[in-house]
Amino acid sequence: MARLHIDAVSKTYGTEFAVREVSLDIADGEFLVLLGPSGCGKSTLLRMIAGLEQPSAGRIRLDGTDITDSAPQSRNLAMVFQSYALYPHLTVAENIGFPLRARRQPRARIAARVTEVARTLELSALLGRRPAALSGGQRQRVALARAMVRDPGAFLMDEPLSNLDAKLRSATRAELVALHRRLGATFLYVTHDQVEAMTMATRIALLDAGRVQQVGTPEELYDRPRTAFVAGFLGAPPMNLFPAVVSSRDGGLRVLSEGVDLALDITADSGEDTAVLAGIRPEHLRPDRTAGAVRGLVRMVENLGSEELVHLDCGSNTLCARLPRPAGLRVGDTAAFGVDPDHLHLFHPESGLRLTWREQSTPLRRIS
Ligand SMILES: Nc1ncnc2c1ncn2[C@@H]1O[C@H](COP(=O)(O)OP(=O)(O)O)[C@@H](O)[C@H]1O
Ligand SMILES: [Mg+2]
Repeated sequence: MARLHIDAVSKTYGTEFAVREVSLDIADGEFLVLLGPSGCGKSTLLRMIAGLEQPSAGRIRLDGTDITDSAPQSRNLAMVFQSYALYPHLTVAENIGFPLRARRQPRARIAARVTEVARTLELSALLGRRPAALSGGQRQRVALARAMVRDPGAFLMDEPLSNLDAKLRSATRAELVALHRRLGATFLYVTHDQVEAMTMATRIALLDAGRVQQVGTPEELYDRPRTAFVAGFLGAPPMNLFPAVVSSRDGGLRVLSEGVDLALDITADSGEDTAVLAGIRPEHLRPDRTAGAVRGLVRMVENLGSEELVHLDCGSNTLCARLPRPAGLRVGDTAAFGVDPDHLHLFHPESGLRLTWREQSTPLRRIS
C-alpha cells in the first residue's frame, strides 16, 4: 500500500524556484506520470519524494505518515533512474539482490527473492551475466528488478526509457503497463515524452516552470486542456493556437481571425468583441468547401504514410491540418475546412486559462 500526499512542496536553489508549491494526491495503485518540458522541476520533485533532496517548504506524507525528514532508505519507495546505475563488476543476480544484501537479509531469502523477481521480468537466463553483456532493454529490466526485489509500496521512475531506441521504448511501455497491473503498486513516473504519458498514465500531472498546470486522465488533459500551455504541450503535431476575436453577429457568436470565421452554435446577446487565443487540433480541421470556416493557402504537404499534414497560410496565421491520405491538396491550392464547435478551444489571451461559452449567461467566462 502506498498513498502519497504532497502538500505545497517547494524547492529553491538560491533565489530560483525549481518546484513551486506543488500539491498532489497520488492514490494507492495509481500510475501517475509527472510530465513537462526539460527543466520544469520533475526530477527535483521526484528526488524530494525519494528523500534525495530536502524540500525548502511543504510536507510529504506516505500512507498518512509524514516522511519529509526521514532518510531515503527508511521510506518504502524504490527509485529507478534513467542511467540504470547498475554495478558493472556484479552479475545480474548480484545487482538484483544488492538492496537485500545491504539490509543483511539471509542468503537463502535473497536467492529465493532474486529468482522470483527475475522470473517476473524474464531475466532468469541472464542471471550470471554482467551488465556489459546486456542490451539496453535488458539493463533497464535489471534496474527494475533491483527496485522490485524489496517489494516497495511505490516505484519512482525518472525517464527510465530515454536510453532505449524507439522500437524498444514502445515495447517497454507496454511491458511497464502490464507490470503495473500485475504488481498493483503505485507508480510515479517522470518523463518529458507526451506519448509515454498518454499511453501509460492513469493520471498525468503536467508541470511548467515548477508549477502544476493540470492533473487529470490523459483524455481530460487532451480533450479539455485547462490552459493554453497544456493545449500546446499535448498532441503531435500540436494544437493550432492563434489570436482571435469573439464577436456577436446576427444574433450569434462568431470566432474571427485571419482566414477564420467560425460560428459558435449558441445565440447570444450582442456584447463587445472579446480577444481570445483560439485553438483547433490538426485532426479537427475537416475539408469542407461550402462552410469554409477556415480558409488558407497550402504552403506544404507532409506525407506520413497513412495521413498527410497540410500546412496552411491564413494571413499571418499558419495552421496545420491532419488528413487521411491522399487529401488531394497541392502546394498553392486554396483549401477550405469546417470545424465542429465542440472541437474549438478558447483561452484567455493573457492568463492562458480556458474559457467557456456554453451554459453561461454571459457569453464568455473564465473557468477557474
Ligand atoms: N542541484 C541544483 N542546483 C541548482 N539548480 C538546480 C539543481 N537541480 C536542479 N536545478 C534547477 O532546477 C530546475 C528543475 O530541474 P529538474 O528538476 O532537473 O528539471 P527536469 O527534471 O524537469 O528536467 C532547473 O532549472 C535546474 O537547472
Ligand atoms: Mg529530469
